[in-house]
Amino acid sequence: MSNKIQSLSGYIHEYQKSVNQPEKFWARIAESFHWHKSWDSVLKWEPQGPHVKWFENAKLNITENIFERHLFTHGDKAAIIWEPNDPNEANKIISYRELFELTCQFSNAMKAQGIEKGDRVIIYMPMIPEAAIAMLACARIGAVHSVVFAGFSSSALADRIIDCEAKMVLTSDGNFRGAKNIPVKAVVDEALEKTTTVETVIVCKRTNADVQMVSGRDIWWHDAIKEESIEHAAESLDAEDLLFILYTSGSTGKPKGVVHTTGGYMVYTQYSFENVFQYAQNDVYWCTADIGWITGHSYIIYGPLLSGATTLMFEGVPTYPHPGRFWEIVDKYQVNQFYTAPTAIRALQAEGLEPLAPYKLDSLKVIGSVGEPINEEAWHWYHDHIGKGNCPLVDTWWQTETGGIMISALAGITPNKPAHASLPLPGIQPIIVDAEGNELKGNNVEGNLCVKFPWPSMLRTTYGDHKRFKETYFSAYPGMYFTGDGAKRDHDGYIRILGRVDDVINVSGHRMGTAEVENAINEHPRVIESAVVGFPHDIKGQGIYAYVICDAEGVTNETLINEIKNTVRKIIGPIAKPDAIQIVPGLPKTRSGKIMRRILRKVASKDISNLGDTSTLLNPEIVEQIIIGSQIK
Ligand code: WTA
Repeated sequence: MSNKIQSLSGYIHEYQKSVNQPEKFWARIAESFHWHKSWDSVLKWEPQGPHVKWFENAKLNITENIFERHLFTHGDKAAIIWEPNDPNEANKIISYRELFELTCQFSNAMKAQGIEKGDRVIIYMPMIPEAAIAMLACARIGAVHSVVFAGFSSSALADRIIDCEAKMVLTSDGNFRGAKNIPVKAVVDEALEKTTTVETVIVCKRTNADVQMVSGRDIWWHDAIKEESIEHAAESLDAEDLLFILYTSGSTGKPKGVVHTTGGYMVYTQYSFENVFQYAQNDVYWCTADIGWITGHSYIIYGPLLSGATTLMFEGVPTYPHPGRFWEIVDKYQVNQFYTAPTAIRALQAEGLEPLAPYKLDSLKVIGSVGEPINEEAWHWYHDHIGKGNCPLVDTWWQTETGGIMISALAGITPNKPAHASLPLPGIQPIIVDAEGNELKGNNVEGNLCVKFPWPSMLRTTYGDHKRFKETYFSAYPGMYFTGDGAKRDHDGYIRILGRVDDVINVSGHRMGTAEVENAINEHPRVIESAVVGFPHDIKGQGIYAYVICDAEGVTNETLINEIKNTVRKIIGPIAKPDAIQIVPGLPKTRSGKIMRRILRKVASKDISNLGDTSTLLNPEIVEQIIIGSQIK
């Protein structure tokens, strides 16, 4: 049964029902899934904990809802279309039945290696079908997957393995990314020197790179599945059993493990996928994200596969071997829904219109954007040149923590407005609040974005640290989920996301905590102190600007700057490398010793016209020196 909304009046009606009687609303949606046992209560919400449970005591397996539920009607339908990095290499088209068998076989292989329900499994893999199979096999046996983006460094990987006490790592011999062949197995080996919990590493052959296999620990994927059956009875899981942990950056400290559970996540990702993209059964859907991010989890794997959709998985990058690569793929597979990030749009826009010329793009029905605010210029370029002016453009606002799309147009159903995420999905109750937490009602208001009522795919905790969960999300405005974003409701009632209001920078749609980058910079032996801020960047949305106090005796600034960039690359990964580093004699501080980031942000943005009152600073003279330094840099 489909829960697809068909009209604007249908949306208004569903939205009202979802707010007036949320439990009744979600029970109705959930009933279209396959459960071994139904729930005792739809929602248990204790704001004090905070503790949230959806579909308490219900039993299910999410992969049965992907496979067994669909096999009668579309066993032969393509589940995954896989397009390799190199267009000259053969693609793969995997039907639902084949994907089911491969998932069962790998489930058996993991069990044979001692993985049990509840064990944590790290997936550090390229965008190949085995990565999807790995996630689904974990879900089938009840193991908790934690996918780590394969661009993270060995020390970032080690931190995550240690935090979740992973028992197994799934990886590949190497990754093809554009012209590069990245030796990821070596990264895993280096990470495992620092950890103690991993018993087995399963290595998928992809690049035929020469790798070192540690005897007794490492096993090839093809050997692990060789003797295994293609049948596997799914584990019956509790709706609130963990499905996965995904690490994401916050404004303080180390990345936190966002925890998602099985039942609510399943219901919401399927419901939101079908409605936002208005997927129809013969469509080909393509999301360009990496499975290392939440978008890859919810809208390459779970949402589409739960809907019986054909989901395209692309191994490569937008500009390899040529800047028309995305559009070539759209035409090749007649893609109907295309979902990407503003940073990719801006990078392709910068290539001009020539790369588009050979392609028709006439299969497209819906185009989407995610990960950061989309500026109006990029919105229009995307809408006019990719959507040819006649595809709805869904600007989808959501977060790792929300599990699924929260605020977005429903393609062709609710109105589009450039650069506006627009309206909440049914079941989602966003509000805008002032600094004191008062709800700003009506239109033409601007403030901080909160959500005042639970929704099924919300995070349940931060792994191993429930206190941090409460402090991060539920203490700024007690009883409400605080998103960390600022938002405006315009005169028509549409929501526009204004970006982060905390110390999180959104670089190319990837979240980086300023504290995390500072900690990495401070590892350099000559660094005394640092402060990191975001600044507007033409392609990336925001870039990373670091102010660093150094003991620079006997070395040039240029040498130091390069060394510091490499330190960050080594500790976190290339995505965290600062775009600009300014060596400074001091940092502007308040009398209580707090760094005045507001001033640093303005200098980095070259906006020094109104720095506000600096006389209360402990060291007001430093501001002038920093401004001069930024100009000669
Ligand atoms: C930002 C990605 C504006 C926002 C799914 C949020 C957006 C953070 C949009 C979450 C959008 C995401 N418009 N900003 N359509 N989508 N963001 O956890 O600041 O990687 O808080 O999840 O990205 O990033 P995350």
